[in-house]
Amino acid sequence: MYVDILLGLQWGDEGKGKIVDHLSDKYDVIARFQGGPNAGHTLVINGEKTILHTVPSGILHHRPVNVIGNGVVIDPITLQKEIETLTAKGADINKRLFISKKAHLILPTHKILDAASEASKGLSKIGSTLRGISPTYMDKTGRNGLRVGDLLAADFASHYEKIKEKHLHLLKLYDYEFSLPELEQPWLEAIEFMKSLNLIDSEYFLNDLLSQGKTILAEGAQGTMLDIDFGTYPFVTSSNTITSGACNGLGIAPNKVKEVIGIAKAYCTRVGSGPFPTELNDEMGERLRQVGSEFGATTGRPRRCGWIDLPALKYAIMINGVTQIAMTKADVLNDFETVEACTAYKVDGTISQQIPFDLCTTDILPVYEKLNGWKTDLRNFTNYEALPESFLGYLNFVEEYLKTEVTMISTGPERERLVFKKALESVS
Ligand code: GDP
Ligand code: IMO
Ligand code: MG
Repeated sequence: MYVDILLGLQWGDEGKGKIVDHLSDKYDVIARFQGGPNAGHTLVINGEKTILHTVPSGILHHRPVNVIGNGVVIDPITLQKEIETLTAKGADINKRLFISKKAHLILPTHKILDAASEASKGLSKIGSTLRGISPTYMDKTGRNGLRVGDLLAADFASHYEKIKEKHLHLLKLYDYEFSLPELEQPWLEAIEFMKSLNLIDSEYFLNDLLSQGKTILAEGAQGTMLDIDFGTYPFVTSSNTITSGACNGLGIAPNKVKEVIGIAKAYCTRVGSGPFPTELNDEMGERLRQVGSEFGATTGRPRRCGWIDLPALKYAIMINGVTQIAMTKADVLNDFETVEACTAYKVDGTISQQIPFDLCTTDILPVYEKLNGWKTDLRNFTNYEALPESFLGYLNFVEEYLKTEVTMISTGPERERLVFKKALESVS
């Protein structure tokens, strides 16, 4: 009995959904622990794409049950739409999906507050997904939030009205036009729908399963560099995206955690504003975006692209206690003559491998190492030993720098395209 944690090591969109989907049959439970519909996790099964925002990425498998943990914030409208789509694809929601009563609800006015706050920031806007994430977490820590379990209380409507009034009052501080009824009506319908789902005390549910010897894979959203404490603040999301967030967001003790699987792309992307030391604002950046189809799964925005940032990955490995890495999207670099890897930063003229306190204001220049490309189509490889030597050379370089093994290599978006360095059993 143990919990493995799988999370992003960069700025999100590392391919977490794809890897969770592939590994799901090895676990009894897949559990999301933080974030909300700002996430977009893409699964490609038999050529069909499914994008999940709130529901864990094990939902299209038969073995695991899926739990939306207490650390997640839920927009009932997005959840309902997602469940309807998944039901049409054959998912047995009644049997396979469980939702923590302690997860917080995103209200219509949270989404308006998010938009109003972003609009008021002008050029310094965060680039939020506008899903109401920050105002909902603010109400959670401010002890004003509404939780899923509150839906079942007789006085839910009056609590909702009270918070709504407070939000409407706050909105007067902004010069922002909005229309509440068109957001509120579908929300009120969606909360009725939510009452028909399995709403549970998920901390008991998960710990009971653990004591029966079951296994859990905790699925992170966003990435370490978007963590509220350790990311590129203030250009971050509003939750702890890191290993400790899984303990908070599920009610699981740290001594139950076994493997921490960090997901990293073979290059780097970011969507939204904020510092990105290895960003390429040139033809190479555009090439990565086009070949990698780097457009947001939630908002469709073009993702900013650049070379892999090893000091940032090393930082993420330290913060999370990563025990193994899954590298995704190496196939995007198939045709590149050379690839580059940032190995240090020049900070105010001095070479350093540490991320400075404030990446936003520090004069920082990446120092690159140029490596041979592999000029081979990686997509059809299934065996680690058979991978081209030049690619293994690249992997070796990354592993040596990070002092962490790359145990899985994803070679395409499809579920089956994953090469293991060791036998599958070693994952957990
Ligand atoms: P997540 O948020 O971390 O789950 O990642 P997203 O789903 O937002 O973005 C990853 C994108 O890359 C999706 O379009 C995936 O289908 C795709 N993808 C995942 N792994 C691979 C891979 O190894 N190669 C390629 N070419 N695409 C991948
Ligand atoms: P997944 O789980 C990439 C980014 C937004 C913005 C910042 C804050 O798919 O990897 P928020 O809406 O959270 O207030 O936005 O965080 N962001 C993501 N970027 N992948 C995500 O999730 C993200 N979730 C939020 O673009 O810059
Ligand atoms: Mg995503």
